Amino acid sequence: MADTAIADTALKTYNDIPVLDWDMQNPEASSYEMFRKLRAETPLVKVPMGMGSMVLALRARMVDQIVSPENTRQLETEMKMMQGIFDGPIFDFIAQVMLFANGEAHQRRRQPVARTFAFKLMEAMRPKAAAVAAEIINDHLDKGPFNFVQEFAAQIPARIIADVLGIPRSDLPVFLHWISDTGESIGFVDVSRRADIEKSLTEFNAYVDKLLADRRANPCGDFLSDYVAATAASGDMSEGEIRAQVVGLILAGSDTTRNSMCMTLFQLLQHPEQWAAFCADPDSLKKKAAEEGLRFEPVVSGIPRVTTQDMEIEGFLIPPGAIVAVSLLSVLRDPEIYAEPETFNIQRTDQQRWHLAFGAGAHRCAGEALARVELEETLAAIARLAPNTRITGPNPRLQPGAIRTVDQMQVEFA
Ligand code: HEM
Repeated sequence: MADTAIADTALKTYNDIPVLDWDMQNPEASSYEMFRKLRAETPLVKVPMGMGSMVLALRARMVDQIVSPENTRQLETEMKMMQGIFDGPIFDFIAQVMLFANGEAHQRRRQPVARTFAFKLMEAMRPKAAAVAAEIINDHLDKGPFNFVQEFAAQIPARIIADVLGIPRSDLPVFLHWISDTGESIGFVDVSRRADIEKSLTEFNAYVDKLLADRRANPCGDFLSDYVAATAASGDMSEGEIRAQVVGLILAGSDTTRNSMCMTLFQLLQHPEQWAAFCADPDSLKKKAAEEGLRFEPVVSGIPRVTTQDMEIEGFLIPPGAIVAVSLLSVLRDPEIYAEPETFNIQRTDQQRWHLAFGAGAHRCAGEALARVELEETLAAIARLAPNTRITGPNPRLQPGAIRTVDQMQVEFA
């Protein structure tokens, strides 16, 4: 297909976008090989979604145009309504969290977080992340296979965010339980679990309310103290909004980081010469290893938006109201940006300054700095303390979904 601009008269329509008969629930269906072939043939493809369809944008150069507020908006509560959720704690959370807001509401919710959940504070968590990783590694070292997903990868983001929030160690078990029980609120909810999720979310909300009240009464210079001060100074957020951003940070940073940690370690171990190089000098290579893991196996599969006006994308005219998603699975392997995109290579020199795995535009990940710290420090700790680590069970696979989830991963630290 020619990539040159097409004159207005030659614009193709929404109906001309090739339709892909794609079963999103089938892991084999989201193969990179499929995207490789499609991307070469067409910039856009339509896939079935519910009773309608969603357009997937396959090429990296289209990202900025698709996330631009001039062309599109973020999905709001309709994400939940499509799942039959019209009220209750899950609905209220989605209605109040920055990720599913637009314009002024999004800015109002994001600004106090952006100001206080800052790069410097996250960088200061490096020694803590390394220490938590080392503690768990030492617990398992030379003791045979264990469940890496739950006992290592899920623990790191939970324990680190607990530390950022000043949660006492004695509350960690219940905090971990709430995270694992309510994580899916942010993505696709298994409606048969809705009552359990909502019960946990209600308890979780009450706990966060107590933390916020405590910091208002006893500010101690930590993130939450600064955050409640920033929300008080702006004066335009409801109590529900103030709380939802804290719960949102916890949930948005848990499954994402956990799954990325698993898949990056898996890829490193699949490439023994790269693993050996990494073990020889983890500090120099940890940033590159984490970035390549994020590129090679992105855990957020796409960034969906709704068009707000007629929008021309690469010769196609899309009407308002269409759902168009940047396919991160495709754009992170776009040969226009990455040399030999299908090869896992921690030495590559073409990583983008704004890594696309963290999204783009106004909703670009608010926790990127913390995610990077956690991924880099835990991978480096494994390389340093357990260089003979191996996968003992079946290879882990990412299940399809808005957030791709590792099915299982058994590891032996040695
Ligand atoms: C490997 C780890 C992570 C990945 C790949 C990732 C990816 C993303 C992506 C792609 C988005 C944009 C979604 C969209 O535009 O629709 C996003 C948003 C967000 N992420 Fe992350 N994330 C990660 C870790 C974290 C962590 C650790 C936190 C916080 C502790 C976090 C908090 C957030 C928040 C609050 C948003 C919403 C931002 C907004 O709407 O303005 N994320 N993330």
